[in-house]
Amino acid sequence: MKVLRTVSELREYVAELRGEGRTIGLVPTMGALHEGHLSLIEAARRNGDAVVASVFVNPTQFNNPTDLATYPRCEEADLRLLEEAGASAAFVPTVEEVYPEGTDAPDTHVFDLGQVAEVMEGKFRPGHFQGVARIVSKLFRLVEPDRGYFGEKDFQQIAVIRRMAQTEGIDIEIVSCPIRRGADGLALSSRNALLTPGQRAVAPEIHRALAYSVNYSQSHSVQATHDTVVERLDAQPFMQVEYFEIVDGRTLQPVADWADSDYIVGCITVYCGKVRLIDNITYRKPEKI
Ligand code: PAF
Repeated sequence: MKVLRTVSELREYVAELRGEGRTIGLVPTMGALHEGHLSLIEAARRNGDAVVASVFVNPTQFNNPTDLATYPRCEEADLRLLEEAGASAAFVPTVEEVYPEGTDAPDTHVFDLGQVAEVMEGKFRPGHFQGVARIVSKLFRLVEPDRGYFGEKDFQQIAVIRRMAQTEGIDIEIVSCPIRRGADGLALSSRNALLTPGQRAVAPEIHRALAYSVNYSQSHSVQATHDTVVERLDAQPFMQVEYFEIVDGRTLQPVADWADSDYIVGCITVYCGKVRLIDNITYRKPEKI
C-alpha cells in the first residue's frame, strides 16, 4: 500500500491507476479506524475498485474546539489496518497540504446543500456540513473517483454529500454501506474509544431503544414512538438525548404520520457523558429508493 502525504503524490498515483485502466473507489475517513471503515474498503474492493482511503481529521467540520482536540488519532494503527484491508493507497495529508488557503480564512464558496443540511446535525452543529462539503469536494476533485463510499451511521451526511455532488456538478456514484455494530448493538464509531467503562456499558441502550421502537411504532403514533425513545434514553445514567427526529428518508424533513412517506428513518444524537454518539433506525423503506 502506498502512503501518500502530498497532493502531488496523490495526483501522480491516481494518474498511474487510471493509466492501468483501474476504476477508483474513494473511502474518506478521519482515522481511528474500526470495522465500519474497513467494511467500506471491502465494498469498494467487491466492486473491483482500486481503493484510495484518506485519513484526515478535518478541522473545518468541527464546530467545537474540544471535540477537535480530543478526536482520537492513531496513524500507525490506521495504516496497518488499511493495508490489511487491501487499500491500494492511504492519503494522509497535513492540514496545510489540504488547506493551503488556511482554515480560518472565510471560505468564499458557500455550498448549496439545500434542506437536507438544515435539520438535525445542521441545526445542532452550525457550519459542520459546510466543512464536510469543503473537504469531501476537495477529495472528489483531487481523486476523481468513480465511486465514493460512506457509512450509513452518518445517514444525514450521505444525503448532504449526494446533494453537494449534484450541485457542484461532480460526476460520482455515492455508495452507502450499512452500519456496523458491536455484538451488543452499539454502532461502531471512532468516538466510542472516548467512553469511560461505565458509559460504554450503557451506550448499547441507544440501539436497544431504537430497535424496540420499531415494534412499538406498529401500534403507536410517530409522536408516541418519538417520546418512548427519548424518555427511555434520558432515564439512563450519563445519557442525554440531543435530538431524535423521525424523518422522511429522502428529504430528511420530519414526518407527522406513518402514512406520510414510504421511507421513514429515525435519527438520533445522544450525549453519553461528554461523548456525542449518533445512530439511526429505519421504520419503513421501499424496495427501490
Ligand atoms: O464521516 C467522516 O468521518 C467525515 O465526515 C468525512 C466524510 C471523512 C469527512 O471528513
